[in-house]
Amino acid sequence: MYLSTFCWFFLLVSFHLIACTNSAERRPVIGILAQAASLQDGDSYIFSAYVKFIEQAGALVVPLRIKESKGYYKTLFEKLNGFAYGKGDFFPILGICQGFEEFTIQRTKTFQLGRCDGLDYSSPLVFTNDARRSRMFRGLSDDLFEAMKNWNVTYNNHQYCMRTEVFNKTKQLSDFYRVLSRNVAKDGVEFISTIEAYDYPFYGTQWHPEKNIYLWSDAHVNHSAIAVKVSQYIANFFVNEARKSKHSFEVNDLANSVIFNYQPKFMGAPSFHDVYFFNNDSMVT
Ligand SMILES: *[C@@H]1O[C@H](CO)[C@@H](O)[C@H](O)[C@H]1NC(C)=O
Ligand SMILES: *[C@@H]1O[C@H](CO)[C@@H](O)[C@H](O)[C@H]1NC(C)=O
Ligand SMILES: *[C@@H]1O[C@H](CO)[C@@H](O)[C@H](O)[C@H]1NC(C)=O
Ligand SMILES: *[C@@H]1O[C@H](CO)[C@@H](O)[C@H](O)[C@H]1NC(C)=O
Repeated sequence: MYLSTFCWFFLLVSFHLIACTNSAERRPVIGILAQAASLQDGDSYIFSAYVKFIEQAGALVVPLRIKESKGYYKTLFEKLNGFAYGKGDFFPILGICQGFEEFTIQRTKTFQLGRCDGLDYSSPLVFTNDARRSRMFRGLSDDLFEAMKNWNVTYNNHQYCMRTEVFNKTKQLSDFYRVLSRNVAKDGVEFISTIEAYDYPFYGTQWHPEKNIYLWSDAHVNHSAIAVKVSQYIANFFVNEARKSKHSFEVNDLANSVIFNYQPKFMGAPSFHDVYFFNNDSMVT
């Protein structure tokens, strides 16, 4: 089976990306959850694009492995950060594509997503009236806001959509998340494309901010200078949120946990994927 970049593929198994952050102002550390894989190279993986996306904004990355014990997650979680405002703690989470979809599943505890054709295309964002003053987008320069509104600079690659009408009538979602943009998939389905929680630092994009810089396959990603700035804006915004977090790693513990302990594998043409694999069973003797 070949490594698929379609985010529907691992939907029920894992997140596409949930970047959990945390840390001291001086050394932000972001956890990135691996995706399940059924590959000879390992049971899970992280595209290095996500790692570099976070690192470019001035943070360290710690991989969060899948299928580990509760203790593993609890321990890491505490170092990375607490959970929420509610407890006087600050724990930003960025959900990209499947991460976005997972946000909706976590809220409703059911699967409210519907099929749609959101595969491999770039589009502008159709901003809502709330977008310009949202936490996520109020820092955009006018130029960048206009670019996101008018140009094909946000990359979509999904086969599930959170339909606007479903979102609207699902109180667990509409009471919790402010909608910042809605888009129309290639088959005409209108879906929610960007959200932020009203009272928590949770941010979700059905689109892929990291790919404008880091995906070099034949996919319809926009690599223009302004598209790259969109990507950098989101990374900077999110890592800035992480800088507000009070938790921190002990330095040697961080050295043992940081992604630098792993080497990504280059998958060659035509995908140009550069991938971290974990738990490579075929290497166990
Ligand atoms: C996994 O192990 C096999 C067998 O040693 C090796 O051929 C393969 O390159 C390894 N994969 C990675 C990502 O290291
Ligand atoms: C944006 O993409 C659509 C197809 O998804 C295409 O019809 C349109 O021409 C593109 N716009 C620009 C400015 O490239
Ligand atoms: C990429 O974005 C630029 C604006 O920076 C736009 O001119 C161009 O049409 C977009 N390219 C595609 C393929 O959509
Ligand atoms: C969903 O709710 C928003 C905000 O209340 C509204 O503007 C929009 O028209 C609604 N759309 C649908 C399809 O229900």
